[in-house]
Amino acid sequence: MKKYGVNELRQMFLDFMESKGHLVMKSFSLVPQGDKSLLLINAGMAPLKPYFTGAEKPPRTRVTTCQKCIRTGDIENVGKTARHGTFFEMLGNFSFGDYFKTEAIHWSWEFLTEVVGLDANRLYPSVYQDDDEAFDIWNKEIGIPADRIFRFGKEDNFWEHGAGPCGPCSEIYYDRGEKYGCGKPGCTVGCDCDRYMEVWNNVFTQFENDGNGNYTTLKQKNIDTGMGLERLAVVVQDVDSIFDVDTICALRNLVCEIAGKEYGKNYQDDVSIRLITDHIRSATFMISDGIMPTNEGRGYVLRRLIRRAARHGRLLGIEGSFLAKLSAEVIDGSKAGYPELEEKKEFIFKVLTNEENQFNKTIDQGLRILGDMEEEMKAAGEKTLSGENAFKLYDTYGFPLDLTKEILEEKGYGIDEEGFQKAMEEQRVKARTAREVTNYMGADATVYDEIDLNVTTKFEGYDHLTYDSEITVLTTEKEIVTSLVEGQKGTVFVKETPFYATMGGQEGDCGVIETANGKFVVEDTIKLRGGKFGHVGRMESGMLSTGETVTLKVNEQARRDTEKNHSATHLLQKALKTVLGSHVEQKGSLVTPDRLRFDFAHFQAMTPEEIAQTETLVNKEIQAALPVVTDVMDIEEAKKAGAMALFGEKYDQKVRVVSMGDFSKELCGGTHVKNTSSIMLFKIVSEAGIAAGVRRIEALTGNGVVEYYKKQETMLQEVAKALKAQPAEITEKITHLQAEVKSLQSENESLKSKLAQGSLGDVMNQIVDVKGVKLLAAKVEGVDMNGLRDLGDQLKEKIGEGVVVLAAVNGGKVNLLAMATDAAQKAGAHAGNLIKGVAAIVGGGGGGRPNMAQAGGKNPEKADEAVKAAAGILEQQLH
Ligand code: ALA
Repeated sequence: MKKYGVNELRQMFLDFMESKGHLVMKSFSLVPQGDKSLLLINAGMAPLKPYFTGAEKPPRTRVTTCQKCIRTGDIENVGKTARHGTFFEMLGNFSFGDYFKTEAIHWSWEFLTEVVGLDANRLYPSVYQDDDEAFDIWNKEIGIPADRIFRFGKEDNFWEHGAGPCGPCSEIYYDRGEKYGCGKPGCTVGCDCDRYMEVWNNVFTQFENDGNGNYTTLKQKNIDTGMGLERLAVVVQDVDSIFDVDTICALRNLVCEIAGKEYGKNYQDDVSIRLITDHIRSATFMISDGIMPTNEGRGYVLRRLIRRAARHGRLLGIEGSFLAKLSAEVIDGSKAGYPELEEKKEFIFKVLTNEENQFNKTIDQGLRILGDMEEEMKAAGEKTLSGENAFKLYDTYGFPLDLTKEILEEKGYGIDEEGFQKAMEEQRVKARTAREVTNYMGADATVYDEIDLNVTTKFEGYDHLTYDSEITVLTTEKEIVTSLVEGQKGTVFVKETPFYATMGGQEGDCGVIETANGKFVVEDTIKLRGGKFGHVGRMESGMLSTGETVTLKVNEQARRDTEKNHSATHLLQKALKTVLGSHVEQKGSLVTPDRLRFDFAHFQAMTPEEIAQTETLVNKEIQAALPVVTDVMDIEEAKKAGAMALFGEKYDQKVRVVSMGDFSKELCGGTHVKNTSSIMLFKIVSEAGIAAGVRRIEALTGNGVVEYYKKQETMLQEVAKALKAQPAEITEKITHLQAEVKSLQSENESLKSKLAQGSLGDVMNQIVDVKGVKLLAAKVEGVDMNGLRDLGDQLKEKIGEGVVVLAAVNGGKVNLLAMATDAAQKAGAHAGNLIKGVAAIVGGGGGGRPNMAQAGGKNPEKADEAVKAAAGILEQQLH
């Protein structure tokens, strides 16, 4: 058998399935779209769920993909064995109500034995216990003897992953030979050892699980197959594990080279080498799909992966940052199948290095704190770190829970994980409102799920703001209805609409839908699954019914203002790339009639100069009166023409490209001005960080800017009025005032000092002798803590050796000060303890060093008593 490489096997599979009539689709993003039941795509079928359930029409009923997948369920074991990993590629062929068991089984056999050339005598199929249909196909059609076909129960041969489509399956195992076996009697297919390896899973998707274990039969029978590409490579290349197949081995070797270690020499080193090799693959792919390290959701998964890898780098003795270097190897090894990796290379390196550096900065500090916690546990004879402490490490020092766990485990300690989750939950509840109810697709369950799949809406709003069309569906908030009457809230669906539905950051249009007999006010327009536009709002008067012809009128002013903001967002993105560099990537945007918001990747705050430059550049392009042109073209052609695209975004084959002169070219489905001069003006009103490496700009255009300056002007006039000056004189006037405040302050200081000097004369005759130590205890008036210290110093000087205790009443509070000279201390005086006793009398606390201490109290009426008590307390202290 030829030892095909990972990249060859991927291509061979896709070509084979294409020859069987499948549409080859690119891997979907790791970020699930419209599916809240998953954090990350974990199987080839996951992004295709709507096609399985029939919620959406697939581009073809036969599809094949090589899907990037991440599963973190076993993350604790990654590295510890060579079997586990978080990242893998899944080859799959899918049928949506097209072919079923016969073809699926035949093709899997044909691919493995004839295309790849695996020895048929080493392959063993398994079927679900009572699936005689699959059994017979293997036995009678393929010709596998009955004793080589295994029947397994639900545990092994029923595939499901949380909510969604599922069903019985038939797997194919490969016997890798005795050298990989456990050698125990009875070792056969299904044994836990490394000899019989599952390579292919054919799932006969017939049911859907609502997430609570309730199964219903799907409208159509489907095929979902999955074959781990790396595992197939293990079998084909006849190597020990996924860490030994060609591309991953090259990566593993680079880890060893950087660490100066050899693989297979020391178990602990191997754990770290494998862990880094795996985690950097996941991290690289996640970042290429636009995920950034954060403290929540998939961002947190990424942060955990990067930080674990960084820490294991340290365990191997690697100094400084190293992840970008490894990432370059991941990209080289995988770019044949995932060109986006190469496109986003520089950005991926930047994110990795940034996170690594940030972690390196806090890790030492965090390790120290954890060290202290360990000491405390040791002293208290405890073996478990409290949930609060684990959470503190997580929250303040960015230590993922499993990192803390790993470090502690090495030393024989555990963690109160429940307590950690509780602390985390408390924070989460504070930060967010609870999640909403979701249906089996992981989307919010709504009345819209019940609308016929064939109802679609054609958008006519690029060229029209008013349009006549027919009502296809009406709904209230709860159900589909045939009419809506005055006062009812609901949603209107029509065949064609000029209303833009919220998409790509641009807010949906508002306006009215009317006939001679009824008027519906559209407050928002939303885009729904399956190409439907919902006009959401309320009936203002009369009645509308399904089938009626209505006139749809978009609120023109709001739409025009929105367009100005949207077009300005394009100019802004290009300007940011020009001013800050090509790493600037759009991370999100919001375009409304009032303003625009643009989130982008950048690693530090913009300087005032950069903000000014950006603003100037955008305004220059507005004044250049660039024509805004839209073209519909093929996605590849658009990318070649240099059109900016959002990464991680799923685009159709045909895309809309919006160009503004030669300055900007972006893929965009939104609506725009016809010429940049219509934007009139552009003004950035804020720039701030919203997450690690993500900045947000808020800006205004057109009349928004005019309004903004009007407000500024009013404010300026108010300030001038308060200063009793003309706006032009404000700066001068303020400089003047500042000088005046300064001179008043210094005058005040000198008066205070004079006042203190005055009190000095009064108190010198209050010196008493306590066991041979001079004590001056006195109450003074109108002196603050600073003045009190000055006064204390002067008095100490005056009496030569001895103890000074002063109390000053200020407002409703008492300030106390005690000082003891060296000789007095030798005699036993201790200013800190002395003041503790004195302060207690005025209802306060405090303390300090033997030579100097200060305190406060809240009972001024007891100040005299406190001063009198000083002698007695001092007497106790003296030998
Ligand atoms: N969805 C099936 C799996 O992940 C094919 O194994």
